[in-house]
Amino acid sequence: MVDRNGWGADRPIPAGTSRDPPARFVEQANVFDPAIYDEFEERWPECWERAAALLSWNEEYDTVLEDEDAPFYRWFTGGTLNAAENCIDRHLEAGRKTHTAIRWEGKHGDRRTYTYRDLYVAVNEFAAALRDLGVEADDVVTIYLPMIPELPIAMLACARIGAPHSVVFAGLSADALATRMDAAGSEYLVTCDGYYRRGDAFNQKSKADNAKLALEADVRTVVVDRLGEELPHVLGEDEWDYHDRREEFSGETVDPVARDAEDMLFLMYTSGTTGDPKGVVHSTGGYLAHVAWTTRTVLDVEPADTYWCAADIGWITGHSYIVYGPLALGTTTVMYEGTPDYPDRDRLWEIVDRNAVDVFYTAPTAIRAFMKWGEEYPERHDLSSLRLLGTVGEPISPRPWDWYYTHIGGEECPIVDTWWQTETGAVTISTLPGIGEMKPGAAGPALPGIDVSVVDESGAPVDPGETGYLTLTRPWPGMLRTLYDSDGRFLEEYWMQFSDPGTGEWRYASGDTATVDEDGYVTVLGRVDDVINAAGRRLSTMEIESAITDVDGVAESAVVGRANDRGDTEIYAYVSTEGWSEAGADVREAIGANVESAIGPIAKPHEIVFTPELPKTRSGKIMRRLLEDIANDEELGDTSALRNPEIVGEIRSERSNR
Ligand code: WTA
Repeated sequence: MVDRNGWGADRPIPAGTSRDPPARFVEQANVFDPAIYDEFEERWPECWERAAALLSWNEEYDTVLEDEDAPFYRWFTGGTLNAAENCIDRHLEAGRKTHTAIRWEGKHGDRRTYTYRDLYVAVNEFAAALRDLGVEADDVVTIYLPMIPELPIAMLACARIGAPHSVVFAGLSADALATRMDAAGSEYLVTCDGYYRRGDAFNQKSKADNAKLALEADVRTVVVDRLGEELPHVLGEDEWDYHDRREEFSGETVDPVARDAEDMLFLMYTSGTTGDPKGVVHSTGGYLAHVAWTTRTVLDVEPADTYWCAADIGWITGHSYIVYGPLALGTTTVMYEGTPDYPDRDRLWEIVDRNAVDVFYTAPTAIRAFMKWGEEYPERHDLSSLRLLGTVGEPISPRPWDWYYTHIGGEECPIVDTWWQTETGAVTISTLPGIGEMKPGAAGPALPGIDVSVVDESGAPVDPGETGYLTLTRPWPGMLRTLYDSDGRFLEEYWMQFSDPGTGEWRYASGDTATVDEDGYVTVLGRVDDVINAAGRRLSTMEIESAITDVDGVAESAVVGRANDRGDTEIYAYVSTEGWSEAGADVREAIGANVESAIGPIAKPHEIVFTPELPKTRSGKIMRRLLEDIANDEELGDTSALRNPEIVGEIRSERSNR
C-alpha cells in the first residue's frame, strides 16, 4: 500500500476518548432520530428526495436517479431550477428581505453587510452587466478574486444567467490562471486590482494581465477596484470597471435562467495524479440539493443562524459551505478577508464574539495553529454563542480535536469531522451531530444514503482496523459528473480501478487510504496518489516537479510531503542537477521562484535537498516512498530493489549536513 502523506498504517492516529453529543445540542438538533439511517437505506435512491425538497424547482423532476449510462449518473432528471434563485429570490418571497445574507469581515475593521435584498440587487445588476459583455448560458466565466463580497456576487450572477463559473484561487499564479482559462475555453474574467494580506497590498491585476498575454483568445475582463488610491490601475482594451458597470445597470433585473438539473453549475480545477489540473464538473440540481441537505443535517444550520465557514471561496469548501449551502437555506453566512493571526491571534474569536456566530467550520491545520498559540486568545472573547463546530480538509488527531472541543466549544458543542472532496461536492462521511457518538480521529460513518467501503487491491472489503482504499459504492447527488472535456480521464481516475463494467458494478475510488472500525467509523489516513495535502490544500507533486525541472541546470526532481512538528504537511523537494554539482543559492532561489510563478506561493518547497541522483528501481521508477521516509526521518525498509542503493546514504548525509 502506497501512502505518501505520513499518516500511513505505520503511523495511525491514536484513538481518543469517544464522546456522546452534548444533551443541550441534541434537544434542538435538526436531525436527532437514528431511524434516518434505516429510512435512507430502505428508500434508496428515493431517500435523496429529502434533499431535493429543500430546493425550489421550476419544473419538478421525473426521475431521482438515472444510471443507464453509469458511471455518468444523472440526478433529478427532467427537473429545472436556478441556483441563484434558490439562494436569493425565494428568500425574498418568503418575507426575509431584510435578513442578513452575507456578513463580510474585511481587514482593518472594514465590514459590510448584505441583506438578501442587497444581494438580490447586486447579483441582478452584475448579471445584467455580464450579459451585456456577451456572456450567454453555458459560457464559462473565470473568477479570480480574493475574499471580498464581489466573489460570491459574481458566482451568483453567473448562476443566474446559466453561465458556469470557474473560480481560480486568488493566490495562484498567472500561469496557473492561464492554464485553467485555456483548458476551460473561458473568454470572460472577473478579477480585481489587488487585495490585502497581512496588511500588505498585493497586485492581482498584473497577474491577470500576464495570464491574458499567454492566452490566444481575447478575454473580456471586469475589474473590481478593491484598493482604490493604494494601488492605482489602468483599464486596457476589453476591460471594464465593476463599479461602473453596476452603476450602468443600476436597478436592472435579469430573469433567472431555468437550468436543467444536470446542467453544469460550475467547474473547479483541482490537482490529480498528472501535472494537468482536473476540471471537476458539478451539476445544478444534485449538487445544490446535496450541499443544502448537508448544511442542514451535518452542520445543523438553521435560517436564523449566523454561520461561519472560515475557508477560502477559491476552493470547494468555500463554494459548498460559504456560498451555496448556507445561502440555499437562507441563513447568514460570514466571510472574512485576511488571516487568523492578523492583526492578532484572536482575530477569529473576535469575529465569532461580535457576530454571535452559532456554527463554526474550519480545518485541522488552523486548529493546530490555534492550539500552538494557546488558549489565551479564545479566552479573550465570549464564544458562548457557538452551538456546533466542524472540521474538514485533512485528518484531525485527538489532541487538537480535544483542544477544539474544550477551548472553542466549551465542551458544549459537538464536533463534526467531515470527510469529502472537490469531487464529492459535499460531505459524504461524518457523524450526524445530534445522533452519532464522536470518536476523535475518526471522521465517522457514511452519511445516510452514502455507501462507503474500505477495500484491498482486488476490491474486497478489508477487516475492521486494516488499511485499505477508501471507495464509494453508490452514486450520490453532489458527485462530480465528469472532468471537463475529458470523460476518458474521469473514468480512468475515479472508476476503472475498482469497477467491473462487465457486470455494471461501479465503485468510485477516492484516492485516499483509510481504516474502518466495527461501527463503520472511517479513519482517513492519507492520499494514495501523487497529491500532497499541504495545510489542507491539494497540490500535485507532478505539477511542482515540472516547475522545478524547468529551472536551468536541474535534471530531475521528486517532491514528497513531510510532517512538521505541528503535524502540518510541508513540501520537500529532492533535486538532482545536470553534471552533478552542489547547486548554489541561485539554483535554490530559481526553483522557489519558478514554482511560485507556475503555481503560486502555496506550492513553494519548504526544503530542497540536492543529490547526485534520485533513488530508482531497476525499471527506472523513482522510489518516492523511500524519499518520503527519509524526509520524515522514518526507518527505511528494504532498499535492495534499488538500482542505486548507495544513493540513500548520500541523501541522508546531505540532509543531516543541512
Ligand atoms: C482530505 C476538501 C481526513 C482527503 C473538502 C481528501 C480529509 C482531500 C478530510 C480532499 C477529513 C478532506 N479527514 N481527510 N475530514 N476532509 N480530507 O478536494 O485526503 O481539497 O481526499 O476537498 O482532503 O481535498 P479537497
